[in-house]
Amino acid sequence: MAEVVVVEDQDAAGELAARSIVQLIRSTPDAVLGLATGSTPLPLYRALAATVASDGVDVSRVRGFALDEYVGLPAGHPESYRSVITREVVEPLGLDPQRIHVPNGSLEGIEHAGADYERAIVAAGGVDVQILGIGTDGHLGFNEPGSSFASLTRVKTLTEQTRRDNARFFASESDVPVHCITQGLGTILRARHLILLAFGAGKADAVAGAVEGPVSASNPGSAIQLHPHATVLVDGAAAANLRNLDYYRYAWLNKPSWQGI
Ligand code: GLP
Repeated sequence: MAEVVVVEDQDAAGELAARSIVQLIRSTPDAVLGLATGSTPLPLYRALAATVASDGVDVSRVRGFALDEYVGLPAGHPESYRSVITREVVEPLGLDPQRIHVPNGSLEGIEHAGADYERAIVAAGGVDVQILGIGTDGHLGFNEPGSSFASLTRVKTLTEQTRRDNARFFASESDVPVHCITQGLGTILRARHLILLAFGAGKADAVAGAVEGPVSASNPGSAIQLHPHATVLVDGAAAANLRNLDYYRYAWLNKPSWQGI
């Protein structure tokens, strides 16, 4: 079962996750972070950048792999996930850009970009902690409903729902690419720790589906139930549809402090 922690707000979730990641970096200076985009992880990246600066954490050897990328955007497009990760994570934290990988979404070589990315993750020794958001339809990365739990990094077609959801970052919905390249659910499940964040009532159904199932490829988020160490950090609104909410709160209150998340 995933550990569900209901926090006061997004900043509290960001601080809790950032503490755990800083601890990881202190014990493993070349830790491999799995980096999600979207608005959800931003409070975590802000908290991480603040702690790195205030506590003088050495991040010079930290490595990172982004979850996904749009296919076919011109290089340097401000909404490409390469640009977003550079702007929101690499620069504020002071990471070494050479150590941060993003799937290659350019049309040239797209046929083997997925396999190349998988090889790079394996060569790095795998992802230590994978940060995740969740789409309103339950997607992780860009693994839309129906994605195999065994899937690896590959090109996918976005659902119309996801293109509508992401249109806010583009001039219009028709500017949102139709294709993406995303780590698979199988790739995500290989990471050693999953931290899934979700905030607001719009995510309540997706969170309930992910945490309490049923486990089904129709509901990609439910793949986290197959992971031995998955942490779900949610605010009250995103937690609202969880059947076992009282138990999650009780378990958190009684958690031995040495365990962390
Ligand atoms: C995008 C990303 C996902 C993200 C999801 C939710 O489609 N590919 O990784 O989790 O949207 O986005 P947001 O956090 O902005 O709600």
